[in-house]
Amino acid sequence: MYNKFQLAQKYIRYYITAANGKGHGVHSPFVFDFITNVLNDKRNFYAFSNIEYMREQLLHNDDVIDVQDFGAGSSVMQQKTRKISDIAKWSLKSRKYAQLLFRMVNYYQPKTIVELGTSLGITTAYLASANGNAAIYSFEGADTIAAHAQAYFNKAGLQNIQLIKGNFDNTFLPALRRINKVDFAFIDGNHRKEPTLRYFNQLLPYLHNNSIVIFDDIHWSREMEAAWNTIKRLDCVTCSIDLFFIGIIFISKDFKAKQAFVVRF
Ligand SMILES: C[S@@+](CC[C@H](N)C(=O)[O-])C[C@H]1O[C@@H](n2cnc3c(N)ncnc32)[C@H](O)[C@@H]1O
Repeated sequence: MYNKFQLAQKYIRYYITAANGKGHGVHSPFVFDFITNVLNDKRNFYAFSNIEYMREQLLHNDDVIDVQDFGAGSSVMQQKTRKISDIAKWSLKSRKYAQLLFRMVNYYQPKTIVELGTSLGITTAYLASANGNAAIYSFEGADTIAAHAQAYFNKAGLQNIQLIKGNFDNTFLPALRRINKVDFAFIDGNHRKEPTLRYFNQLLPYLHNNSIVIFDDIHWSREMEAAWNTIKRLDCVTCSIDLFFIGIIFISKDFKAKQAFVVRF
């Protein structure tokens, strides 16, 4: 993992060199459309306040729970105690990015969505609320955290979420075989190169023309940058957008040439 200073340097370089967030100079109608209609959509959707209210409650919840800690990896699993408020503070995608995922689901209307790393379920709730007709399959290895997420989904009446418990190494592939076709995936757990590439390779046969995959924390560490660089260069990845804290890839045959963008967000 990069230290704070390295990360800040990287962020400044990104901010200076990225395409301006209004889409000027982006010569791709698809990406221009994404920037204007999704990235910069400032609407406050009805679901947002309920989910953010839940986040606030979690941020003030000082209950301590035992969690299986997968750390940056999954093989060395330790039991640790953690405060719910700390998990909410450090592990969840921020409002800005979770709401971007909501808008993407709302705009592109994927029907089958996969999330690797449920944690307390805040981003899952955004994905599920963006399209009530979509089926969300969210994966989480830590039992106690998963129980919290499930209780929240029940309370919020989010019935289109299936929470799949267990180590991704054991649960992901069998679930993909059942799901069969994935329109949208958010890879947000086990942030190392080898597992990230392995999960992506497992996912690949189930993607199709127009699938979208989002990777979290692509500049968090040398390993994650290496994984992102490998993925975005694959032939099947016709368009990639680097927003620094997340990377988005589009698998679509509609692009005439491979396109890689870095966009300020
Ligand atoms: C960053 S959090 C997910 C945050 C969530 N997507 C959000 O934005 O609200 C990553 C989660 O993945 C889980 N995780 C990490 N590695 C795992 C593995 N190998 N198998 C199962 N779960 C794992 C962790 O327990 C943690 O809860």
